[in-house]
Order: sequence, then structure tokens, then C-alpha cells
Amino acid sequence: MDLNHKSAIVTGASKGIGRAISIALAKEGADIILAARTEEKLREVKKDISSFGGNSLIIPTDMSNEKDILNLFDKTKKEFGKLDILINNAGIFIKGNLVDFRTEDYNKIMNVNLRGVFLSCRQALKIMIPQKSGFIINISSNAVFKGYPEQSVYTASKHGIVGLTKSIANEVQKDGISVALIHPGGVDTELINYARPDIDKSLLIPPEDIAKTVIYMLKLSDNSWVDEIFIRRRAAKPF
Ligand SMILES: NC(=O)c1ccc[n+]([C@@H]2O[C@H](COP(=O)([O-])OP(=O)(O)OC[C@H]3O[C@@H](n4cnc5c(N)ncnc54)[C@H](OP(=O)(O)O)[C@@H]3O)[C@@H](O)[C@H]2O)c1
Repeated sequence: MDLNHKSAIVTGASKGIGRAISIALAKEGADIILAARTEEKLREVKKDISSFGGNSLIIPTDMSNEKDILNLFDKTKKEFGKLDILINNAGIFIKGNLVDFRTEDYNKIMNVNLRGVFLSCRQALKIMIPQKSGFIINISSNAVFKGYPEQSVYTASKHGIVGLTKSIANEVQKDGISVALIHPGGVDTELINYARPDIDKSLLIPPEDIAKTVIYMLKLSDNSWVDEIFIRRRAAKPF
């Protein structure tokens, strides 16, 4: 697909992987809707995008707040009249043994990582189904292939995303909408520095590699689609 003037919402666009995806999509000529909570950081991403002539719109959004999510999609529809691409990337990580894990932290993780993705997919499809086109990529994690200790609730939220994505993909294929998953291994962001301080920073995946993966998936010909990609650190165990 030619990405020029495609409208693309990226959640969690203020830093890390979401920032890299937003910049990469903007370099391809897409119009980016930058969504996250921290407006100041979103302004920095917008500035980076403007520096090479790219176009972006900031819509401050808390993905655990339904009203914010409805506003994100309403404003996007008003501004661009369509939604071509949705990248559900916003996510949080809270580490802890299950036995000590607070219900409050369970809710925090699920509200952003799973409920947020559900609401976001639902609102996107309300625009994409009538227009009979659209692409949704949900960012999961390699945690869905493993069972790392102290990550059970985060991992459960990412399993939830996998189930949601697979089902939606089958539901909306008839409407011309393609839905996919990316499962990253350790990426060099604030999240992994907190989650896995044991990993040598120099061996982490650059966020730009996840962005390149998104671009690769979206730029395939109209006859091809990739359902999911697992991208791991080269130093990690294969398969
Ligand atoms: N880094 C890794 O190794 C790795 C591996 C596998 C999967 N992932 C996944 O990749 C995604 C991005 O992670 P990252 O590593 O780039 O983490 P990060 O650097 O901590 O960035 C997280 C992003 O999510 C946003 N976010 C967090 N809570 C939010 C909320 N309530 N509403 C809206 N936005 C929110 C943050 O923005 P604000 O704080 O401004 O809201 C930020 O833009 C996550 O889904 C994560 O689970 C990461």
C-alpha cells in the first residue's frame, strides 16, 4: 500500500516504540494522529515529524479512559474524514509476584493493555467497516510465547490482545479490513529498562526496527498480508 496521506492513529506515540512508529509512518507520507497522555512529549514528536515536512495531529488520550478514546476517534473522523491505519501500541508494565500483586495494579494493566485495545479496535471498526478498508496492528509481546516470572498479569493482558486480534481479524476480513499482531522481544525503551534491567542494553532491539516491521507489513502488495511477526533480540534464543 502507498502510505501517502493515509491517516494513522498511533497510541502510545509519546515515546519508545510508538514514537518510532509515528516518525516512520510520517516519513512515508502518512498523516499521523499522535495519542498518549503526556502532551509535552507528544509536542516533541510532532516537532520531529514537522522537521522533515511530515504532518501530525496531537490528541491527548488516556487509553484507560473510554471518553478519551471516543474523543480520539471522533476527532480523527472530523479532521480526516476517514481512518486508514490504527496502531495499538500504548501499554504499561507492572512487575510483581502474583501472590503480592495488588488488584489495583491488575486493573491498571488490564485497563490500558486490554480494555484500551478493545475500545480502540471497536471505535476504529465503526469508521473502517462503512469505508470498507483499514489496517489495524496490535502490539503484543514475546511474553505470549514464554512465561516469565513476575510478569503474569502483563502476560495475561498480552494474551488477551492476541485472542482479541485473531477473532477480529476473522470477523472483519469480509469488510476489507486487515488486522495483525507484532510480538516484540526486548526493545530499548523505558519499559524494558524497568521490566528487564538484567538485559545488556547494547543487545536490545532498537525501536526503529519495530517501526520498520510496521512499514514492511503495511507496504506489501494488495494481494499479501502478514498476520503476525515475532521479532526477537538476535542474542535471545531462537524459536
Ligand atoms: N520495550 C519492550 O521490550 C517491549 C516488548 C514487547 C512489547 N512491548 C510493548 O510495546 C508497547 C510500547 O512499549 P514501549 O516499550 O515503547 O514502552 P514505553 O517507552 O514505556 O512507552 C509506552 C507508551 O505508552 C503510552 N501509555 C502508557 N499508558 C498510557 C495510557 N494510559 N494512555 C495512553 N498512552 C499510554 C506512553 O505514553 P504516556 O505515558 O505519555 O501516556 C508511551 O507513549 C507496549 O504495549 C509494550 O507492552 C514492549
